[in-house]
Amino acid sequence: MSAVDVWLVDLAVSADQLDLCAQVLDRSERERGNRFLRLEDRARFVASHAALRLILAEARACSPSEIRLTANAAGKPNLAAPAGSAQAFNLSHSGTRALIGLGDSADIGVDIELIRPIPDAVRIARTHFAPDEAASLAKLPPHAVEPTFFGLWTRKEAVVKALGTGLSLPLNRFSVTLPPAAPRLLGNSAGWTLAAIEAGPGYAATVAVRAADIAFRHHRLSPDWPDRLGEKRANRACGPAKARL
Ligand SMILES: CC(C)(COP(=O)(O)OP(=O)(O)OC[C@H]1O[C@@H](n2cnc3c(N)ncnc32)[C@H](O)[C@@H]1OP(=O)(O)O)[C@@H](O)C(=O)NCCC(=O)NCCS
Repeated sequence: MSAVDVWLVDLAVSADQLDLCAQVLDRSERERGNRFLRLEDRARFVASHAALRLILAEARACSPSEIRLTANAAGKPNLAAPAGSAQAFNLSHSGTRALIGLGDSADIGVDIELIRPIPDAVRIARTHFAPDEAASLAKLPPHAVEPTFFGLWTRKEAVVKALGTGLSLPLNRFSVTLPPAAPRLLGNSAGWTLAAIEAGPGYAATVAVRAADIAFRHHRLSPDWPDRLGEKRANRACGPAKARL
C-alpha cells in the first residue's frame, strides 16, 4: 500500500518569521505576494509557499530556496529541481491554515476551507454542483448547510486539483458523498482514494489521490516552523530530518 503524507500548517506567524518566509521564495512568488492588497492575504500566501518549500526541501534534502517549481497549463505546480525520483504534491490555504499533500507518483489534490457564512450556499450548489449533491444539500436543516457545503466543496476541489485541471473542469461533472459520510467519488470511483482531514474547528479539508488503497500519514508542522527556514539556509544538504519538523 502506498502512503501519502498530509501536513497541516499554522500560518499565523510573527512579522520576523514572515520575513524569514519571504526570503526563501523565488522572484515570481515574491512578485505575486506583493500584488495582494490586503496584508493578511499576502501573509497567507508568503507563509504557505515557504511551508511548502520547507516540506519539499526536507523530502529532497536541500534548502528551501533551492526548490524550483513549474506549473502545468492549468496552473498546477510541480517540482522542476532538484531532480530525483517522482514527487507529487499539492498545496491549499485558507484562513490561517495551509494543507500540503506529499507523495511519490500518484496525483494528489488537497483543499482546505475556512467555514464562513455563505447565505446562498444552496443556490451556488444548484449552479455549480451535481444535481444530486444540490438536492441533498437543500434538504438539510439550516444549521448544517454551511459546514456541509464547505465539506462538499473541499471534496470536489481536491479531486479537480488532483486531476490538475482546477476549476476548468466544471464541478457538476461528477459527484462525491456528502459529509458526514466518508469521502468517496460516486460512479467511476475505482482508482481514487479520498480522505477527510481534521484541520481544527471551523475548517473543512480533504485530500484526494488518483490511486487506490492509499494510506495517509498525518503531520503538523511545529509552531516555530518558520525559524527552521533560517537554519536550513545555514545548513545546506542537511539530510533527512523529518522528526525535527
Ligand atoms: C487552482 C484552484 C483550484 C485553487 O483553488 P482555491 O480554493 O482558490 O485555492 P487553494 O488554496 O485550494 O489552492 C491554491 C493552490 O493550488 C495550487 N494550484 C494552482 N492551480 C492548480 C491546479 N490547476 N491544480 C491543482 N493545484 C493547483 C497552487 O499551489 C495554488 O497556490 P497559490 O495560488 O498560492 O499559488 C482554482 O482557483 C482554479 O482552478 N483556478 C483557475 C481557474 C479559475 O480561476 N477559474 C475561475 C472561474 S470558475
